[in-house]
Formats: sequence, structure tokens, C-alpha cells
Amino acid sequence: MVKIAFFDTKDYDKELFDEYNKNYGYDITYFDSKLNKETAELTKGYDVVCIFVNDKADEETLKILEENGVKVVALRCAGFNNVDVDHKGNLKVVRVPQYSPYAVAEHTIALLLNINRKIYKSYQRVKKYNFSLDGLLGFDVHGKTIGVIGTGRIGKAFIEIMKGFGTNIIAYDLFKDEKAAEEMGFKYVELDELLAQSDIISLHCPLTKETENIINKDSIDKMKKGVIILNTSRGKLVDTDSLIDELSTGKIGGVGLDVYEDEEEFFFRDMSNSYKRDKNLSMLISMPNVIITAHQSFFTKEALNNIASDTCENIKQVMNGEKCKNEIL
Ligand code: NAI
Repeated sequence: MVKIAFFDTKDYDKELFDEYNKNYGYDITYFDSKLNKETAELTKGYDVVCIFVNDKADEETLKILEENGVKVVALRCAGFNNVDVDHKGNLKVVRVPQYSPYAVAEHTIALLLNINRKIYKSYQRVKKYNFSLDGLLGFDVHGKTIGVIGTGRIGKAFIEIMKGFGTNIIAYDLFKDEKAAEEMGFKYVELDELLAQSDIISLHCPLTKETENIINKDSIDKMKKGVIILNTSRGKLVDTDSLIDELSTGKIGGVGLDVYEDEEEFFFRDMSNSYKRDKNLSMLISMPNVIITAHQSFFTKEALNNIASDTCENIKQVMNGEKCKNEIL
């Protein structure tokens, strides 16, 4: 029987994987802790290690897994910036490249509308029977220019919805999909042009050496005053110090974040009773024109079901020695 060590387990993971596992019969041990070089010792005797976005599969950790006899690392997410892809060895690494681009795209739009129309403010006001409109002024999204960085699955799902708002879409991607651009009605431009022309900029590229801090002091300088920045991809795409500086000057009009560069120690858990705080995160949370959600873009029933079923299937294929299209190593 295939033995799986499942890290960073939440109740909803266990519920769904137990359900899907009825068709596979894996022997799954659920650990609360995240995978890293300290917890890697727990993997002795397991065939498969199943991890999520904030587990760390760096070189040191992967070496320990191999020494422990682990054959497969199964990511139950799309992004794999937490895996050392230069690792040389026999370990196979698989991921779930697509589980619901709509979930992330729709959440990005929820952040945009919430920031622009100040829904978070009006919700709290109305709860207190305050029906004043002071400070709630937004703008029509219709007619605005939207800059999309990364036009893969999620970027395209986002563009499709934004077209319905009557917006003008420009995009930047290292690998252009000109056919999609023509069919969907958007235009590829150079990054600097996107930065200069966009009223709203949304990040949908992976975190790589090239994209780390793609939003920084220099790139913000090139943007329009009052620009709204949305990041539902990975926290490290944005240099948080510059973001805070430029929010303070009013250069940036609003920010919607579902990810944060140092989210590992905070996100996916209740820290409300802890004294542990992160300076920049606290600063962002305190700002009136920033809305942060806790890496929940993916969190829909459809996405969770797809994650569980595809992860189980990936593991089956690799353990059977079959070719798996979702292998990254
Ligand atoms: P994808 O692989 O379909 O698309 C990524 C696009 O980014 C590709 O078109 C690629 O060519 C482009 N790209 C790569 N390097 C680039 C660069 N240097 N500059 C500009 N574009 C570049 O990936 P998908 O499914 O659209 O996901 C995008 C990202 O969203 C993931 O990498 C992940 O980090 C994030 N994500 C976040 C979730 C959340 O819950 N917040 C859930 C799922 C994904």
C-alpha cells in the first residue's frame, strides 16, 4: 500500500482527501506541521510526501526525503516556487497545474470591487446603522485600462471577466498567446507601456527569479497616479517596502492582496490571540486603501475537489511508473 505523509493539513483537506482516497486506498498520515528541513525527518518510511504552498522543498529538505526513501513529492497546488527545481536525484515531483482558474480570477475581481467601491467600509458602517456616503466614492471600472501581467490560465480567466466590464485590456507575458489575444480582444505590450497606461494592474505570473519584485520602486514610478494593484499570485512579486511608501504618498490608489511576501508564519492559521506580528503586514492591514485576504483565492468547492482528485491521480500514475503530464521533476 502506498504510504503518504501529508503536510500542513487543514480539516477541509482531510475531509476531501479521505473521500477521494476511497477510490485509491492510500495509507495517509496527516501532519499539522509544514514540511521543511526540520520536519523532513517525519517522512521516514513514506513513499509520497504531499505538500502545499508554504511547505519548503528546498535542496536540503529534498535530500533528506530521498535518504528517507521518499519517491514522490506531490504538490496539491499549481505554483512550485517552494520547490528546488535544480535538485538532481530520483525524486519525482508532481503538481496540480489547473484546478480552477475561475476561483482565483473571480477572487481578484472581488478584491478590485471591494477596494474601488469601499465595500469593506460600508459593510462596517451599515452594521452600526451609519448610512453616510462620505469617503465611499469609487470610479466606473467600465472604460478603464487593465494591465494583466501573465496571461496563462488565471490571467485569461481574469481577462474574460474583465471584458464583460467594458474595459480595455493590455497584457505582458514572456510567452505571448497571440491567438488568444486576437480571439479574446486584448493587446500585448511591453512591460513599461503596461505600467504607464494601466488604471488597474493585476499580477497573474508565477514567482521566478525574473518576476521576483516585479512591482518595485522603479516600476511604481512608471505607473499612473492612483493606480490599483492586485496580487493574487505570490507575495514576493511585490516589494512591500516600496508598496507601503507609494501608498503613503498617494501614488498608488489602492491595493488588493491575497498573498504576502512573508505569509508563511501567519497565513492559514488563527493568529488573533498571538502577540507575534509582522511590521509590514500590520502596516498594510492598517491602511485604509488596502484589502488583504489570507491566500483564499483558490478556496472554492470546485477547486478543492479538483485538487484532491488530481493529486490522487498524479500519485497513482507516478507510483505505477506511468508518465504523468503534471511532473515538474
Ligand atoms: P500559468 O502557468 O497558466 O500562467 C502563468 C503565465 O505567466 C504564463 O503565461 C507564463 O508565460 C507567464 N510568465 C512566466 N514568466 C513570466 C514573466 N517573467 N513575465 C511575465 N509573464 C510570465 O499559471 P496560472 O495557473 O495562470 O497561475 C498563475 C499563478 O497564480 C501561479 O504561478 C501561482 O503563483 C498563482 N496562484 C495563486 C493561487 C491563490 O490561491 N492565490 C492559486 C493558484 C495559483
